Amino acid sequence: MEKKFKRTLVTSALPYANGPVHIGHLAGVYVPADIYVRYLRLKGEDVLFIGGSDEHGVPVTIRAKKEGITPQDVVDRYHNIIKESFEGFGISFDVYSRTTSDTHKQLASDFFRKLYDDGKFVKMESEQYYDEGEQQFLTDRNIRGECPRCHAADAYGDQCEKCGATLSPDELINPYNADSGNPLVKRKTTHWYLPLDQYQPWLEQWILNEHKEWRSNVYGQCKSWLDSGLRERAVTRDLSWGIPVPVEGAEGKVLYVWFDAPIGYISNTKELLPDTWEQWWKSEDTRLVHFIGKDNIVFHCIVFPSMLKAHGDYVLPDNVPSNEFLNLEDDKISTSRNWAVWLNEYLVDFPGKQDVLRYVLTANAPETKDNNFTWKDFQARNNNELVAVYGNFVNRALVLTKKYFDGKVPACGEITDYDKAIIEEFVNVKSEVEKLLDQFKFREAQKEAMNLARIGNRYLAETEPWKLAKSDLSRVATILNLSLQLVANLSIAFEPFLPFSSKKLRSMLAYEEFKWENLGRTDLLPEGHTLGEVVLLFEKIEDDAIQAQLDRLARIKKENETANYKANPVRPNCTFDDFLKLDMRVGTVLECTKVPKADKLLQFKIDDGLETRTILSGIAKHFKPEELVGKQVCFIANLPPRTMRGIVSEGMILSAEDNEGKLSLLTVEPKAKPGSEIK
Ligand code: MF3
Ligand code: ZN
Repeated sequence: MEKKFKRTLVTSALPYANGPVHIGHLAGVYVPADIYVRYLRLKGEDVLFIGGSDEHGVPVTIRAKKEGITPQDVVDRYHNIIKESFEGFGISFDVYSRTTSDTHKQLASDFFRKLYDDGKFVKMESEQYYDEGEQQFLTDRNIRGECPRCHAADAYGDQCEKCGATLSPDELINPYNADSGNPLVKRKTTHWYLPLDQYQPWLEQWILNEHKEWRSNVYGQCKSWLDSGLRERAVTRDLSWGIPVPVEGAEGKVLYVWFDAPIGYISNTKELLPDTWEQWWKSEDTRLVHFIGKDNIVFHCIVFPSMLKAHGDYVLPDNVPSNEFLNLEDDKISTSRNWAVWLNEYLVDFPGKQDVLRYVLTANAPETKDNNFTWKDFQARNNNELVAVYGNFVNRALVLTKKYFDGKVPACGEITDYDKAIIEEFVNVKSEVEKLLDQFKFREAQKEAMNLARIGNRYLAETEPWKLAKSDLSRVATILNLSLQLVANLSIAFEPFLPFSSKKLRSMLAYEEFKWENLGRTDLLPEGHTLGEVVLLFEKIEDDAIQAQLDRLARIKKENETANYKANPVRPNCTFDDFLKLDMRVGTVLECTKVPKADKLLQFKIDDGLETRTILSGIAKHFKPEELVGKQVCFIANLPPRTMRGIVSEGMILSAEDNEGKLSLLTVEPKAKPGSEIK
């Protein structure tokens, strides 16, 4: 860390209080943030860790409607569940509050009012989509329709999940209400906008030039937003759940949730430190770091900084370490499909094993790309790494000390060259771990810490003190002294990652005082010091515990496939003429190959009854090309040709997709002549 900072203010995204938190939240945001904060605290730095629940916004109202309760009921319930889960996993917030607190409502309202008074907003009347049946304006996320880019049928008003395009609702073809399925009309409404275009030059300078050190996924996303040009963004909404817009004539309007939520970082600091919070937020020597998931990047790197800049006085983030997503057993984690490992359930199913999950999620952290959590990997990492490496080394060192030296740290005698080499190896670990943690490379940092245990295991395996007990007890003393020093080091090195185990280990060592600066020292435990009671640091996880989890997931999958499955609502009518314009035909697949360097694309050669036609299709993830050769497919024959990856595609292969993204090809039965028309 550069010298110019006196204190570090760490925030972690405020989770929506519309459901419990799951392993994706933990892996993406809270475990890395907690590791970082614990590390800084161990180093004796001045640090504050801010958390809280994000309790406004549409997701909360949707949940309330579904369950027939009020939005406040929803957030009360989940705020408490979430808070307890975080406590359970040792996420060491200095404050965990909520955006329905009075402090927050007041501060967010005042923040808006200041920007309003300073003329920082643009007030505009616009036409917004309105559902006449439901009598409500729709939020972007609740509007669905056909994607203007890839023509997926069910893109969202803010994004197409199929091609990844960022969209605005106006771009959707035939928009409809995702809940009711009603087609939408336009209706006039007034909102306040933050003119982000005015901040563009400043943002370009600040991010693209001054923060080249940000993670490449973060920097890249910012660059792409900036390259496509920023536009004004509405910061108010027509909704009843939220913080009222503190301006006359704004009845029935609330602050946009993404306006109020990040201000929650400030409010929660204020709640914790009513007298000194400004020192944290308003002095240049504070280093502000936001831990977030990748869907939050634009808000934390572009929108919130612009708000802070517009307000003045506040510090800006120095770094925004954002992770990619974690999948569960090869499927996207989804709250609505219950496809998740819920933290509150894990704590019940695996009592006392918080560190195992912390370990596995860090070992598999989606730092640079999406990653996958599997229960088998969870079991393997526990049994083969925590138990067999870390736990085994600790246990051997302590048990041997009990056995030969009555549980007292034996004297270190003459150090051999081999000992020296081992010491050198583990002395390096401190600077390695520091370097990696300073760069937010948690996964590699944890690997380094684990390396200490590997060094220890190797040391015992190669010196075999149990064979020397009869012949050379003073050599055994030296070996065990060094081993115990290593064990003490392990409890420091792992403290940020596995705090519960470090605590347990300290009580086994009967030694409390560990500071980060002591890492790498070989004199932590004085000769003659009496060890505490030895227990197992980690326990093997048996197959049946894993099978129970796999069975649960299989059950959920089955439920999702049958009872809970609901197809997307039918889109608004098109005319019969619209339909007739499409020339759909049957073709026979002559060849099908993967397009090099394009992981989604398949290249088809199709006999269409007239000639051989080339069609590209983005379905490579779903089918094996060799299995499609000889099959008959349906395709649209009269789309204008499109060039992708330098190849001209003359049409589109039809497939059926369920609303979880599973594809089936449309084919014909019995076989038809190539070129047969579909009517
Ligand atoms: N609730 C948001 C989400 O889960 C995160 C809000 S972060 C904050 O994606 F900065 F707005 F608080
Ligand atoms: Zn699309």
